[in-house]
Amino acid sequence: MFLSKKELVGLDIGSNTVKLLELKSVKSGYQLKNIGEAVLPKDAIVNKVIGNYDAVSETIASLFGDLRVKTKNVAISISGHSVIIKKVSLPKMSENELRESIPWELEQYIPQSIHDVNYDYQVMPGETPEGNIDVLIVAAKKDVTNSYVSVVKEAGLNPVVVDVDVFALENMYMVNYPEPDGLVSLVNIGAAVTNINILKDGISVFTRDITTGGNLYTEWIMKETNAAFEEAELLKISAKDGESPAGIERVTNEFVDMISGEIKRTLDFFSSTLWTSSVGRILIGGGSSGVAGLKDTLSDITDAAVDFMNPFRNVAYDPNDFDPQYIQSIAPKMSVAMGLASRKPGDNK
Ligand SMILES: Nc1ncnc2c1ncn2[C@@H]1O[C@H](COP(=O)(O)OP(=O)(O)OP(=O)(O)O)[C@@H](O)[C@H]1O
Ligand SMILES: [Mg+2]
Repeated sequence: MFLSKKELVGLDIGSNTVKLLELKSVKSGYQLKNIGEAVLPKDAIVNKVIGNYDAVSETIASLFGDLRVKTKNVAISISGHSVIIKKVSLPKMSENELRESIPWELEQYIPQSIHDVNYDYQVMPGETPEGNIDVLIVAAKKDVTNSYVSVVKEAGLNPVVVDVDVFALENMYMVNYPEPDGLVSLVNIGAAVTNINILKDGISVFTRDITTGGNLYTEWIMKETNAAFEEAELLKISAKDGESPAGIERVTNEFVDMISGEIKRTLDFFSSTLWTSSVGRILIGGGSSGVAGLKDTLSDITDAAVDFMNPFRNVAYDPNDFDPQYIQSIAPKMSVAMGLASRKPGDNK
């Protein structure tokens, strides 16, 4: 029903800001058509659960209005506790048998009834040495998925793809970093969630959402300075590139140590239990990736080369239409939106 139109807009509904990205397909790849973000009121989305529907749908609608976006089809994504991603190894079987066995498999991993989740699965390429196939199963709580879908509809839009943040990141990577390059970890440090996707030559081998991010830093700044939420948010971004904001050096360092430690724990878990080698390269992104000292601390404690991901590496734009400085400053936050904007209607994960 939704397949008649090819265009769609990538709409990343984060807890802190809503991000919009529209691309045009051109011969050489992609060209930027529209880009922007709008800040959500505090507590509109808490722990990735929508608390204030009207605030979220109004923010989305005015972002589309301000940027004069005509396209109504959107790709959105969800993340955090309501999403479960599991790779299972199963004996080789027919497509029908596989379809029937997925709910049984899934039931072992989810606390709720199978009827309370939407799920999908994908057979990974290749066979294991034992002749088994690896199947990636993704399940999301229906009520959470439905709440994001309805908030988008409420804004007068048409959700045609519901993706998961970590897979949107992977898609962003495929578009922008097509060369095979061993083990790479994509780490998107947002406000409520830090999404991690470890790729081997561009294909996901491990994913995890750590349910912490910049919101905790804001809370610590509020405690340290008695500032209100909005003031604390401003204080965060007031710092010059690479420097801690004045007066909050202590909590900045604590936040950097905490978040780097969490990321390292996940990478250590991956390399000690699931893989024999360790991740040598990390690409960081998300609004909280620029916190002073984070890149270097993460590199020190993991021994990996750490860089900022560039979601516009293979995206052309006209500097007369878009200020390059603005694009550069917003880029770290746009990785999920980029992955979504390059989906096609009907694509799901
Ligand atoms: N210059 C900056 N320095 C430090 N933190 C920043 C800066 N700019 C934004 N942030 C923080 O980044 C976070 C927002 O990042 P992002 O837009 O990636 O999150 P989100 O997608 O809205 O949230 P989530 O995906 O976690 O629900 C906020 O906590 C914000 O305070
Ligand atoms: Mg986000």
